[in-house]
Amino acid sequence: MEQQKRARLDVVKLSPDEKAVIILDQTRLPNHEEYITIQDEKRAWDAIKRLEIRGAPAIGVFAGYAMYVLSQQYQNLPYEAFQKEFTRQADYLNSSRPTAVNLSWALKRQVGVVNANAGKSAAEIVALVGEEAKKIDAENLEMSRKIGEYGVTLVKDGDGILTHCNAGYLACLGYGTATAPIYYGQEQGMTFHVYSDETRPLLQGARLTSYELQKSGVDVTMICDNMASLVMKQGKINAVFVGCDRVAANGDFANKIGTSGVAILAKHYGIPFYTLGPSSTIDFDTKTGDDIHIELRDPDEIRSMWYKEPMALPEVKTFNPSFDVTDHSLVTGIVTERGIVYPPFEENLRKLFNR
Ligand code: MRU
Repeated sequence: MEQQKRARLDVVKLSPDEKAVIILDQTRLPNHEEYITIQDEKRAWDAIKRLEIRGAPAIGVFAGYAMYVLSQQYQNLPYEAFQKEFTRQADYLNSSRPTAVNLSWALKRQVGVVNANAGKSAAEIVALVGEEAKKIDAENLEMSRKIGEYGVTLVKDGDGILTHCNAGYLACLGYGTATAPIYYGQEQGMTFHVYSDETRPLLQGARLTSYELQKSGVDVTMICDNMASLVMKQGKINAVFVGCDRVAANGDFANKIGTSGVAILAKHYGIPFYTLGPSSTIDFDTKTGDDIHIELRDPDEIRSMWYKEPMALPEVKTFNPSFDVTDHSLVTGIVTERGIVYPPFEENLRKLFNR
């Protein structure tokens, strides 16, 4: 049956007067489409920490805009004081979440603009920071389309695709990353059958991926995380597409907790497994997955958050890592806006990015 397709929601944007960043509150989806207006640094930090804005590329775009909005508030300072405050604020925002490299990447770009323009007034520099933020946003959209173009060559019309967490437009804007081939293919008249892992504990697959694909007219079926093996065994899956929060130089990559298990299952069943992400997610300074800092989150996310009553005794020990690292040996290819990288990853990533 033809599904209803609707325009994508705005995920992050500047207010018309450019004095605030407006974000879609992703903690309220799928039942409420609500926006938050952000004008101060603590609220910006909280928005990232609470996952009101989330997904590696979207966090990067948000951080770019947040620095523009916040720095307007002290643009009367002399350069040295301005530069000091700007750097402090960037470090502060960077402390909100450790795993996705896009956050520090965008903040570094903005600090770079400030440092490179030492002779100019703070107000002139703020205008340049604004331009840089818009550039980060525009580049991100272009990268998403390119990932779609490359990624769609890996599947054929009618294929079943499994994805984990949310690396759709809500996480990455545009076409998303893991979803980019799906949306791009849809525009070319292709149909895919997408299986979306619900993704415990914060249910990004259920709340966000199945929501955005359904609303976009894509055939999506939500499954619990522990059902992935069964649908693979039943032959329903031709490829696995997931996002990435940080790709190490050797091709190991961090993504939402549970991703490495999906990769192991895919290997077992002989199903190609791809991670899709922009070059801003590749961190050549991180040698292997062992060097990636994995965020540990609030125990109540697994003890009680989604339940009418707690589902564990309060004294029960918890372990709630938000991400895991997938070993490069389990990865068929890494799809970027510059092309698809195949093993040996260390060598081929360097070649593609001239490092
Ligand atoms: O904790 P989240 O919701 O920010 O985690 C998001 C993911 O793990 C995504 O899959 C990842 O950011 C890739 S999106 C390009």
